[in-house]
Amino acid sequence: MITSVVPADPPRPAEGLPASAVLTVDAPLPEERPAPAAPDVPWWRDAVIYQVYVRSFQDSDGDGIGDLPGVRARLPYLKRLGVDGVWLNPFYPSPQHDHGYDVADYKGVDPMFGTLEDFDLLVEDCRKLGLRLVLDTVPNHCSAEHPWFLEALAAAPGSTSRARFHFADGRGADGELPPNNWRAMFGGPAWSRITEPDGTPGQWYLHMFTPEQPDLNWRNPEVPVEFEKVLRFWLDRGVDGFRIDVAAGLFKHPELPDSPDPEADERTRDSVNPLAWNQPEVHEVWRSWRAICEEYTALDGRQRLLVGEASVPTPAEQAKYVRGDELHQAFFFHLLHAPWDAEHFHQVIDAAVRDITATGSTVTWVLNNHDQVRTTTRFGSPERARAAALLMLSLPGAAYLYQGEELGLPEVDDLPDEVITDPIFHRTGNRKGIRDGCRVPLPWAGTEAPYGFGPEGSAPTWLPQPASFARHTAERALADHTSPYHLYREALHLRRLLPQLGEGTLRWIETPPNVLAFARGDGLLVATNFGTVPAPAPVTGQPLLSSGPCPAGVLPPATTAWWIQPRL
Ligand code: NOJ
Repeated sequence: MITSVVPADPPRPAEGLPASAVLTVDAPLPEERPAPAAPDVPWWRDAVIYQVYVRSFQDSDGDGIGDLPGVRARLPYLKRLGVDGVWLNPFYPSPQHDHGYDVADYKGVDPMFGTLEDFDLLVEDCRKLGLRLVLDTVPNHCSAEHPWFLEALAAAPGSTSRARFHFADGRGADGELPPNNWRAMFGGPAWSRITEPDGTPGQWYLHMFTPEQPDLNWRNPEVPVEFEKVLRFWLDRGVDGFRIDVAAGLFKHPELPDSPDPEADERTRDSVNPLAWNQPEVHEVWRSWRAICEEYTALDGRQRLLVGEASVPTPAEQAKYVRGDELHQAFFFHLLHAPWDAEHFHQVIDAAVRDITATGSTVTWVLNNHDQVRTTTRFGSPERARAAALLMLSLPGAAYLYQGEELGLPEVDDLPDEVITDPIFHRTGNRKGIRDGCRVPLPWAGTEAPYGFGPEGSAPTWLPQPASFARHTAERALADHTSPYHLYREALHLRRLLPQLGEGTLRWIETPPNVLAFARGDGLLVATNFGTVPAPAPVTGQPLLSSGPCPAGVLPPATTAWWIQPRL
């Protein structure tokens, strides 16, 4: 299936060795990173970044929860896979009501995940291995245990402490109704009422997610000033950039009027309330953050990266977030939301390439993350998931991978109710849209839980791993040259070798229904068969790489293949 272009992995450790010995920081690496083809092109434009959900990646201390030393121990695995960098989900001190997206201290490490010293060592190791390090930052809301919010609760209505959030009097005779009809993303009203310090029922505060995540008021000048300090704190410690949570949030309509369609807001769990999301003022913030990044680049020549989680209705609207002086990247979620359907993929790829590249930026592709059902399950088969991944990795621009997709992990959709931690479940009472199933700790080695996730004798993993994870361990994947791990690795390696796979052009080629095909630059041809029967391959000859067995002349169902064709 694969014409191997990557040197073989070093030998696996002998049976019985702790999983942490599989790949250590000092293990020899099989290849050096080749010099970039065009040194002046910023690295992020076609980078592939691997998302590490820290609590589920690798546990070093045996408490059943992943941590920063665990991430450190696995960096060589990521280097060998061939990614350019790592994005870490939040590890800051937090009561964990939304697994770290409720930040109580933006400049620290939660003891559950390690210490600042562990973080500094991680930065050092990333630097040694040539991996970029991107942190998550959460500016739309903080934790209800953040000192600012505690101070606001203790202060009086109208105080400067309350002005950092959205506090308002309720409607109704006694203020017993929320100030407006907005719905929270994770269910229920977007407002909660507090008890004033004197014990009387008091004002309401806005939270677009859970009540434990009060929204910050970005019209208050103290808020941007504080976040600038946060960015500088981590930039000074050596990070390469930030993933920005809820990047289309921050500002709300200044009058906080009723939403025109609260039912739609509730139904879709997408950012559809036009008064709560995507307000024009947010772009000013991204301009100022970009300026901070440029300032650091001017000092040491290293390009910093801002990647936004900007959920907006259209690719054209998203393009506004990556204008030349704003964010470098914004996840293109329209591909992630596309069903397994050639026409749908065609439309969203086309729109992305047209609208996003018109800004001078590149598209940032993604198929999996910690909020979505894994592709193996979402698309209905491991073959389709592999084909979609290989298609994504051939598109012009940057891409993000989510931990475990290279192991072909399925969604764990049979977790019992009592272990579910997602606030969506607890606030809505149903399992629709819950995210624990893609967050189950990774299987690294062995045949029994915790599959090398933690050291011998560890506490049970924070979510139970299913028996089927035995088939998906990294140890097995490394040893099996037909595993998805090797497909990803070959694809990433080829992205470094073939100039056509950089940001360049994409030209569609006419195909039968259910097949998509396009040429990248000069001489690279890519095709995916979305159908259920074999299709004729668009070119003769053996593919360079394919997501499954692919004899010359035929493109089997649920398969993507890449061919080199000198005269296209
Ligand atoms: C988006 C994050 O990806 C998600 O996990 C989180 O729950 C929300 N933002 C709220 O911060």
